[in-house]
Amino acid sequence: MSKLLYIETSPRKDRSASIDVAQSFLSAYEDNDSDNQVETLDLWDFKLPEFDGDTINAKYRVMHGEAPSPEEQAAWETITKITDQFKAADSYLISTPMWNFSIPYKLKHYIDIISQPGLTWSFTPEEGYQGLVTGKSATLILARGGEYSSSAEVAAMDFQRTYLEMILGFIGINDINTILVEPTLTDVESKAGVIVSAKDQATSIASRVQIKQSHQFLIKLQVY
Ligand SMILES: Cc1cc2nc3c(=O)[nH]c(=O)nc-3n(C[C@H](O)[C@H](O)[C@H](O)COP(=O)(O)O)c2cc1C
Repeated sequence: MSKLLYIETSPRKDRSASIDVAQSFLSAYEDNDSDNQVETLDLWDFKLPEFDGDTINAKYRVMHGEAPSPEEQAAWETITKITDQFKAADSYLISTPMWNFSIPYKLKHYIDIISQPGLTWSFTPEEGYQGLVTGKSATLILARGGEYSSSAEVAAMDFQRTYLEMILGFIGINDINTILVEPTLTDVESKAGVIVSAKDQATSIASRVQIKQSHQFLIKLQVY
């Protein structure tokens, strides 16, 4: 059984370009193998805890190997639960709009929750930073009103793709496929073409995620 965690971040639902493309990915993924499981995390329907003082104190206590206070311990347990749900997946699908050249605040909030020392990354003076979420792949579906892949000058304004690819790599996920859904703020016909092209890519990548997971399973079998 392979488990994919789908993180949905557009509040526009049936008007959302990123969700529309993600649905094609999910259909292809589920059709490929009846053992494939999808867990959906809709960040507009999930109350994330505040990343407040107790939580930050708990984070630094973990980093410095110190005992947390009861309040810090409670805050850390909440963070750990959400992070454990993230780590339980074999692969990830994140669909998101570009907002102000980056990602919606709900997704940044989620990343602030799960990017934690000892849970998704570690640091030692000898080895520096190490990602702990290894052996997994991620697909990013990035919808944007403008077209950022057209030149280096506009690509430099794209903090959606660069940030997501960097932070996933930071926690250990280096096998990343990125599908650009752009430009969505265009005439109806052009937008339809953009969506069709993105859906084709999504379907093809969903099949490859499946093949890769099968290979990982075989490798595990050989080890045991
Ligand atoms: C709050 C907000 C901010 C946006 N900022 C940008 C932006 O900086 N650059 C851009 O190209 N499009 C921007 N857009 C347009 C969206 O990226 C575009 O409509 C995209 O298709 C939305 O994805 P969705 O349909 O999945 O929600 C913004 C839209 C909203 C609602």
